[in-house]
Amino acid sequence: MKNVTFIGAGYVGLVSGTGISDFGHKVTCYDISTEKIKSLKNGEVPIYEPGLQELIKKNTNAGRLFFSNDPKSSIENADVIFIAVGTPLDENGKTDLRYVEIAADLVGQHLNSHSVVCTKSTVPIGTGEKIIKIINRAKKTDVSFDYISNPEFLREGSAVNDFLWPDRIIIGGNNKFAFDTMKEIYGPLFKNKQPIMYTTVTTAEMIKYASNSFLALKISYVNEVANLCESVGADVKQVSKAMGQDGRISSKFLHPGPGYGGSCFPKDTKEFVEIGRKNGNFMRTVEAAIITNEKQKLRMVKKMKKLIGGNFKSKIISILGLSFKPNTDDVRESASIEMIKIIKKEGGEVNAFDPVASDSMKKIFPDVCYKNSWEEACTDADGAVIMTDWNEFRAISLSKLKSIMKTPILLDTRNIIPLENLKENEFHFDNVGHFLLNES
Ligand code: UDX
Repeated sequence: MKNVTFIGAGYVGLVSGTGISDFGHKVTCYDISTEKIKSLKNGEVPIYEPGLQELIKKNTNAGRLFFSNDPKSSIENADVIFIAVGTPLDENGKTDLRYVEIAADLVGQHLNSHSVVCTKSTVPIGTGEKIIKIINRAKKTDVSFDYISNPEFLREGSAVNDFLWPDRIIIGGNNKFAFDTMKEIYGPLFKNKQPIMYTTVTTAEMIKYASNSFLALKISYVNEVANLCESVGADVKQVSKAMGQDGRISSKFLHPGPGYGGSCFPKDTKEFVEIGRKNGNFMRTVEAAIITNEKQKLRMVKKMKKLIGGNFKSKIISILGLSFKPNTDDVRESASIEMIKIIKKEGGEVNAFDPVASDSMKKIFPDVCYKNSWEEACTDADGAVIMTDWNEFRAISLSKLKSIMKTPILLDTRNIIPLENLKENEFHFDNVGHFLLNES
């Protein structure tokens, strides 16, 4: 059993820390936010992540999982210290490392016995060396430590499952003791033969960016294929299905939509392009994915405007889905932001509904009307748009929807409503890549 500390009890630190306590280790999640730690100590989970509340409760009750605002008592005597703080983009689109630097400084200040310091935050390639320097500069004694890069591959909305059943674990380091320590930390995963790769710090940092940027590229690619399908009269659903039957392509991440969002793809792709630029190896494919993604969000707005007659002015538009994907309350970089912004700017009125993300969106658009159900949001609406593929929108009764709307107009940016149902109910509709558009 190891003493493990997480610096940062956000989405990555909380899920990973709880997961590692579930493996039998003693874990302290430290965070600077007193409010966050207070909620966690009261058994409330500040983020919406299926399964997390139960896992936290199980491990706090078992006396393995603790929360603290005190860096000293959290860091001292830890065998492994994970840095799991946010690495957002700054106003110039560059990765802001201030929280990582603060965390590294705290480690240096409070390190009192040999530990493995492990960065789980997504950091630009080469950041490992900077972290080591900051720790050494902040140390008060000549206490030693090993450094490891251990990037996470958690998806919001399925992060607990992704942590407990990872496709692979990447350990970047340079000595056996550190590798053996990490193998013990991930003991149960190692026992059930989850693939663990031992590599260098730089390679581990590269694996994270290369993986995320490829996933983003795949989404932008299928979105472009969908747009071309509309022009030539092909059905993207069948195209992506057939593509996915090729094992080399795989059917995952081949669903066209309004453009990817979230706190990772937009940030990691931009950083990867920047790393390429700095090193004289331009990542043109990734750059193209970014441009395509931004255009896709605007394409959805144009589609909606066309459906309602070319002008948002004085029109009521209901936005179904605000989060950037289902099963999360996170709206960061969500495609619905662009849609709401332009509708409002052009004089339209927005009625929004999301099963969990309305409070998050209120922080961006406080004056939008947030409803408690899709029915309420669509009542008397001139048009409706599905922006997030929440399961409850798959079950929408089109006859009910038609009866409450002013005009039966629907844009389905996630292709979750069957075309034949839309035609049967005489909707004026559009979607992403399905050529069977109702031209009437
Ligand atoms: C992503 C990576 O999947 C994860 O491995 C990494 O650790 C963090 O970034 P996340 O951003 O939480 O995870 O969500 P993800 O499920 O990847 O979806 C990202 C965006 O892509 C969402 O807006 C989603 O709607 C969109 N998407 C995803 C598509 O448009 N089409 C798809 O086929 C899949």
